[in-house]
Amino acid sequence: MSLAGRHILSIDQFTRPDLEALLAVAQTLEPVARRQYRCNVLDGAVMANLFFEASTRTRISFHTAFSRLGGRVCDTTGFTFSSISKGESLEDTARVIAGYADAIVMRHPETGSVAQFAKGLRVPVINAGDGTGEHPSQALLDYYTISSEFARLGKTIDGMTIAMVGDLKHGRTIHSLCRLLRLFRNITFHFVAPPALAAPQELLDSLKTAGHHVREFDSIASGLPGADVVYATRIQRERIEGGEEMEGYSEDYRINHTAITEYAPKDIIIMHPLPRDSRPGAFDLATDLDTLPNLAIFRQADNGVTMRMAMFAMALDVHKDIDRHFHKWEGYRPRRYSDSDADFYQFD
Ligand code: NCD
Repeated sequence: MSLAGRHILSIDQFTRPDLEALLAVAQTLEPVARRQYRCNVLDGAVMANLFFEASTRTRISFHTAFSRLGGRVCDTTGFTFSSISKGESLEDTARVIAGYADAIVMRHPETGSVAQFAKGLRVPVINAGDGTGEHPSQALLDYYTISSEFARLGKTIDGMTIAMVGDLKHGRTIHSLCRLLRLFRNITFHFVAPPALAAPQELLDSLKTAGHHVREFDSIASGLPGADVVYATRIQRERIEGGEEMEGYSEDYRINHTAITEYAPKDIIIMHPLPRDSRPGAFDLATDLDTLPNLAIFRQADNGVTMRMAMFAMALDVHKDIDRHFHKWEGYRPRRYSDSDADFYQFD
């Protein structure tokens, strides 16, 4: 399938060859993400980055990705500064922005709203998260992360075991990643959450129908053994009625250094879409893991720029032209981004 001019609204629109094509383009763009080369293949193009819900890395990495390919970005954040607060319909806003920009990225708190916005538009729209629905670009960058971490370890996605921990009910990153992994073969899913935060039954059923193995656990002590990847998520308090209610989430679900040492295989990859909730009592991924090379969360966030560049290059049909627009960067560039980065994460 060609992505040229197409919206990216759900992982369900991709086949496995589509994923592999995106991965190949992302790999070509790696030297740009690593700042060895500049690329101006999107010179003259404009992207509208519309975020109606809180975001740091998704908004900035979409912006960075488009800019690193030589394009310009217009941003709008929140409802307050948008004409939607004057009663404008999504449809009217959509038609207007399509007249201004070559690509549109949108995050919105209501499930289905980005698809409603994109309906009938001839300018590609990328869903950057719609309520508890989907977050396709996150799943694609998670796929890129698992593939590159596994390449180092000599593992394959087919046949792997992944433990998913946290708010599996409201977490759209979990929903999109499960839909993506469904396209592979023979995956074992360990879902670790209290009943009130369990993954939707229809999602579990669709994984089973596709031939995967689904197991549910009520603690990480039982859910971590045998896992190649653990994917932790934040409790989505803003989507839970009563807000602060943790719905049975306790210390038993917390992934920290002790839990990883006691229950997980030595080479487990630890992922999280971020942000992690560092407030006391949140029981999110612990910071005592930060010195472990297994912790892939910052490499995962870095991969967001690479994968989003690939998405733009394909949606605007310039991916075959990329190398012609590479220019060696002669200025300063870091060999790694931080002192805490693992030794294998160096850019030469
Ligand atoms: C997630 C999101 O917004 O869905 N973050 C992200 O995009 N990287 C996860 C979250 O908010 O917990």
